[in-house]
Amino acid sequence: MRVLVTGGAGYIGSHTCVELLLAGYEVIVVDSLINSREESVRRIEEISGRKLEFHKVDLLDKSGLDRVFQQAKVDAVIHFAGLKAVGESVAIPLQYYKNNISGSLVLFEVMAQHGVRNLVFSSSATVYGDPASLPITEDFPIKSSNPYGWCKVMIEQILQDLYLADPSLNIALLRYFNPVGAHPTGRIGEDPKGVPNNLVPYISQVAVGKLPELKIFGNDYPTPDGTGVRDYIHIMDLASGHIKALEKLAANPGLVIYNLGTGKGYSVLEMVNAFAEASGKKIPYKIVERRPGDIASCYADPSKAEKDLFWKASRDIKAMCADTWRWQTKNPNGYE
Ligand code: NAD
Ligand code: UFG
Repeated sequence: MRVLVTGGAGYIGSHTCVELLLAGYEVIVVDSLINSREESVRRIEEISGRKLEFHKVDLLDKSGLDRVFQQAKVDAVIHFAGLKAVGESVAIPLQYYKNNISGSLVLFEVMAQHGVRNLVFSSSATVYGDPASLPITEDFPIKSSNPYGWCKVMIEQILQDLYLADPSLNIALLRYFNPVGAHPTGRIGEDPKGVPNNLVPYISQVAVGKLPELKIFGNDYPTPDGTGVRDYIHIMDLASGHIKALEKLAANPGLVIYNLGTGKGYSVLEMVNAFAEASGKKIPYKIVERRPGDIASCYADPSKAEKDLFWKASRDIKAMCADTWRWQTKNPNGYE
């Protein structure tokens, strides 16, 4: 089976490509490298011991994408490509809507022209906003408070409409909670450009001495220790969720939606302590104001994915921190 992976050079895409190759799929990666490096593709091949097809093509380049589909004989698409920084999306909304929405529209058009009916889409727990209760199930209402999140909500809606128009399509909307960690070899991992926005890459750069201290955004939330609680999921568990979703699509399920999380929330302070233990480093931190737009707590009810996909996250926060730390220490400057 031939799977085209948009954004396959990025963080989640690269780990998923390793799992796809190891499971025997033929993999075609389309990535503009706007937020990644081709070195990750080389390392995917190194870890898996298999070759993939790489095309440096932007999704906005319809004729370029069309050429890839003409050659590739694609059976299914996993669509990761998109810009993903919430704060940046507030500052430059037009670029987010253009890249993420227009890019997706071009992809869906080219898929339709080539008769490709199977799609896995990277959505996000961000579509649940500030949920009315916890844990979050897939039937909670979806909304957003920033352009990044609106892109996810809108692309989900576009896919719902495409499915309504053509029920022979098979589409899995995967709502990821907070992906962290790296491949256990330490050869691929998250390589944020500039100062990281997300907690775990930030802690990791403090631990390695690249950043002086962590700023904890608020300790007055209604959580056990006052700091924000999230459902962190190991990137390798997330990657295997995509294989399970592809297997599900093969059974013609129509449009399906799954939370990919562990079901367990950890606070910022719990993550800091777990990381200090895994790395043997002190993580200096200071409590600062809440970050605008942040919510107190967010964690999944992942039972639907467990029941339908036979998928369950198995790696704990020890593994998440240890694998992040291995990647960080082996690659202090990422893929550079
Ligand atoms: P990433 O930035 O590491 O990977 C995205 C990849 O897409 C990059 O390699 C980038 O170069 C590529 N890309 C972006 N726009 C493109 C375009 N127009 N054409 C071709 N390639 C393009 O991000 P990631 O963390 O791997 O996220 C992958 C997907 O998962 C994204 O859609 C993201 O919104 C979603 N997601 C991520 C998280 C997270 O915390 N990392 C959480 C929920 C959902
Ligand atoms: N935090 C800090 N200091 C930091 C960074 C984060 O205290 O320097 C705190 C946040 O306040 C929050 C927690 O750590 O309580 C996690 O923050 P992240 O930025 O790592 O993750 P978010 O839950 O805010 O958002 C992430 C992605 C979104 C995605 C969402 C759900 O950035 O794109 O997970 O998948 F939608």
